Amino acid sequence: MLILGIETSCDETAASVVKEGKDILSNVVYSQMVHNKYGGVVPELASREHIRTIVPVIKAALSEAKISSEKIEGVAVTYGPGLVGSLLIGLSFAKALSYSLDIPLIGINHIEGHIFADFLDHPEISSPFICLVISGGHSNLVYVAQKGSYELLGQTRDDAAGEAFDKVAKVLNLGYPGGPVIDKVSQEGNPDFFKFPRAYLEEGSFDFSFSGLKTAVALYVTKLSEEELGRHRTDVATSFQEAVVDVLVEKGIKACLEKNTRKIALAGGVARNKRLRERLRAEAEKNHLHVFYPSPILCTDNAAMIAAAGDFRLSRGEVSGLDLNAIPYAPLNSVQ
Ligand code: KG4
Ligand code: ZN
Repeated sequence: MLILGIETSCDETAASVVKEGKDILSNVVYSQMVHNKYGGVVPELASREHIRTIVPVIKAALSEAKISSEKIEGVAVTYGPGLVGSLLIGLSFAKALSYSLDIPLIGINHIEGHIFADFLDHPEISSPFICLVISGGHSNLVYVAQKGSYELLGQTRDDAAGEAFDKVAKVLNLGYPGGPVIDKVSQEGNPDFFKFPRAYLEEGSFDFSFSGLKTAVALYVTKLSEEELGRHRTDVATSFQEAVVDVLVEKGIKACLEKNTRKIALAGGVARNKRLRERLRAEAEKNHLHVFYPSPILCTDNAAMIAAAGDFRLSRGEVSGLDLNAIPYAPLNSVQ
């Protein structure tokens, strides 16, 4: 089965053709640059960029896969969560394509898409496992009982992990998006330079909170002189990263132990973080757990993960109607 995936939930316009739910024939991602100078995504600009780029991106995905649109057997599209204006562009396009080609439309939850990035890169991964879906828009701790069956153990109560990276990078004048820059500069920084707060929340909670940490960094920076900030910018960024990593790793491992599974997977843009991967591997080893994460291109937003999830749902007989709407806060639902 050949599925065309379309992803426009935030600031990436992406299209991909996936065969049999596992072979990526093409994976085209256009990352919008227009937001860089604002230090964050401007929703209205994101929608306009999606309108401008969706046709060339889809054409590129088809041509890279060397197939014509008539060969596509289903169109999978992200319907939420995400920015409503952005979601609507991909969704409307997918509906038009489904109607004109007379092929099924499959609405996909973006978080489920991120989880499928792990299935794409690790066909050997067997359920159950814990998946930490951490990106610019979400921080979810999910128990994947089996493919398509999810239990949300925890989520962020305020900022997402990637959002905290982006905001802290802005405070430190490191540029946007902040995650990759902090990841890079932290190779030279001291993680123990300053002990920023770790929000573990109530005993036993798998929820996250990164907003207090972000504020703590901003306050700390106001107390530094220009010269001190210049000298310790990298150390502050590295100490911030360490605080995020500590909480993610500890909660992820605890969730594995509590749910009695030996596997933990990362997904989402923050899953690219080197320190997080390194610390998770080290802690997992101590607890005899296996760690999985997707290749970098499948961590950040892409449409291959949406096509793979679409293939799975369609093979279970799930098809969406043309009345499918964009849902900015769509919950993660298991298959029927
Ligand atoms: O999954 P994604 O492309 O979009 C959302 O679904 O939100 O994730 C983007 C987020 C951004 O906040 C970015 O700063 C973060 O992922 N990110 C990273 C790294 N690469 C991207 N965070 C930490 N370390 C990285 N290497
Ligand atoms: Zn995402």
